[in-house]
Amino acid sequence: MIRWLRRRHQDGMHRKPLPEVPPAPQDLRGAQAQAEAESASSAQALMDDPSEHEPVIDTSKPLLTVTGVERSFSVGGHELHVLKGIDMELFPTQLVMLKGRSGSGKTTLLNLIGGLDLPNRGEIRFKEHWIHQCSDDRRTYIRKTEIGFIFQSFALMPLLSAWENVELSLRMAGRPRSEWKARVAHCLELVGLGKRMHHRPFELSGGEQQRVAIAKAIAHKPSLLLADEPTAELDSQMGAQVMTVFRDIIRTERMTICMTTHDPTIMEVADRVFEMVDGKFINS
Ligand SMILES: Nc1ncnc2c1ncn2[C@@H]1O[C@H](COP(=O)(O)OP(=O)(O)OP(=O)(O)O)[C@@H](O)[C@H]1O
Ligand SMILES: [Mg+2]
Repeated sequence: MIRWLRRRHQDGMHRKPLPEVPPAPQDLRGAQAQAEAESASSAQALMDDPSEHEPVIDTSKPLLTVTGVERSFSVGGHELHVLKGIDMELFPTQLVMLKGRSGSGKTTLLNLIGGLDLPNRGEIRFKEHWIHQCSDDRRTYIRKTEIGFIFQSFALMPLLSAWENVELSLRMAGRPRSEWKARVAHCLELVGLGKRMHHRPFELSGGEQQRVAIAKAIAHKPSLLLADEPTAELDSQMGAQVMTVFRDIIRTERMTICMTTHDPTIMEVADRVFEMVDGKFINS
């Protein structure tokens, strides 16, 4: 018996440890029990190559088409015309950047693409969805399941660890609990935070917080990732790290990324840059 116990202990010491699930808040207890019941081999397999079983994507068909989109706001009794006829197409696995002076309408356009706002005129088609015609509930559902958002200010839950922040987006997207453990571990590894999984935001650097935000935004496997100035609060080295992570995400997760930036060095890695001037693109 003692020999058997010793052998078990030694085996355990040589086995590559899987990431621990952090202490769960009340309503995560069932998830933790279920996640721990997962076999080590299937979790490891998912972490090794999650894209192995992904469907083939036709990169010649647009993922998103924006046609004649206009958006104006009533301010102090006046109409402020911000977007004056935007046309654009985003294709699968592209890294697309929007540039333009402050106030030119970049964030307004990202909000429309992501279904957070509606255009006054024009059409937005994302996959099979006509976003501009969808109800609030439908747009919320599409966002939760098929679109990821990254904001300049990270938008993390301050009391939750990196692990719990990423897990939250899987819960919100309604992904099966059996997927959570492997997917959270995979996303945090992908952004280079395998060793910081249980840190809370205030225990992380700005670049690390932004990488948690990226892991959180991609956890539910959206096909479109929208990022509003994701490198603006970072120094140039951390900004470059974020762009490397974006490239890795496109390669391994087959996502399309559309982001805004003011930084010309960041724009060098884009597949396509749209420049907004006076409510229109000048180079589309
Ligand atoms: N909800 C709103 N109500 C009124 N005006 C708005 C609203 N949202 C945006 N605007 C106006 O639309 C214009 C474009 O704003 P937007 O945030 O899209 O610019 P931006 O290109 O993202 O600028 P920045 O580079 O500074 O982030 C601004 O003049 C802004 O004041
Ligand atoms: Mg903006």
